[in-house]
Amino acid sequence: MATLKDQPIQYLPKEGHIPQNKITVVGVGAVGIACAIGILVKDLADELTLVDIMEDKLKGEMMDLQHGSLYLRTPKVVSGQDYNVTANSKLVILMAGACKQEGESLLNLVQCNVNICKFIIPNIVKYSPNCKLVVSTPHGDSRVPVWSGVNVAGVSPKNLHPDLGTDAGKEQWKEVYKQVVDSAYEHYVEQY
Ligand SMILES: NC(=O)c1ccc[n+]([C@@H]2O[C@H](COP(=O)([O-])OP(=O)(O)OC[C@H]3O[C@@H](n4cnc5c(N)ncnc54)[C@H](O)[C@@H]3O)[C@@H](O)[C@H]2O)c1
Repeated sequence: MATLKDQPIQYLPKEGHIPQNKITVVGVGAVGIACAIGILVKDLADELTLVDIMEDKLKGEMMDLQHGSLYLRTPKVVSGQDYNVTANSKLVILMAGACKQEGESLLNLVQCNVNICKFIIPNIVKYSPNCKLVVSTPHGDSRVPVWSGVNVAGVSPKNLHPDLGTDAGKEQWKEVYKQVVDSAYEHYVEQY
């Protein structure tokens, strides 16, 4: 009979086990880590993988999440700089970005981020050809507001008003979405 110490371990994934709900976050900066914590707290993945080019930071962030996972249910949190660690991801969230250097134009920064994506995306696709890819960028008119995800003190306004954010919404909440988009542009114009 297994000892008390052995019993919980028997439920851990065995060597060679293919995760069913693996999520990878590339870029463990401010946004990437906030995202990773959200994934863990909401119990969305059976494996969370982190990738970054900064080795020490990557290891430190992984260890912090592993220590915190004592209170969570995701059984595996790993990291690596080789993209083979991302294999079999269902979802890959790209939060890597280049910090703007002093005097650098926004256009140049965009080009820098394009180059980063050109490196990362083929590597992701190589190991997880069927994954869904979410790319974070502060620009883009094609962004969508996820009204069902909004809550105010735990109450979903979308549940109160199913028309929220649509043309049929009497209170024109879709204007708020436009203001958010515009404020991001203003923020970037001010910043850069
Ligand atoms: N969607 C939004 O509303 C929103 C908001 C804020 C930031 N962003 C964008 O998200 C990205 C991340 O922002 P942040 O504030 O976390 O930045 P950050 O500088 O804190 O972190 C970026 C991370 O990306 C890593 N990185 C850079 N190049 C990489 C590469 N080739 N491969 C792997 N990792 C790499 C860096 O080492 C760093 O850890 C930026 O592009 C930023 O513009 C989007």
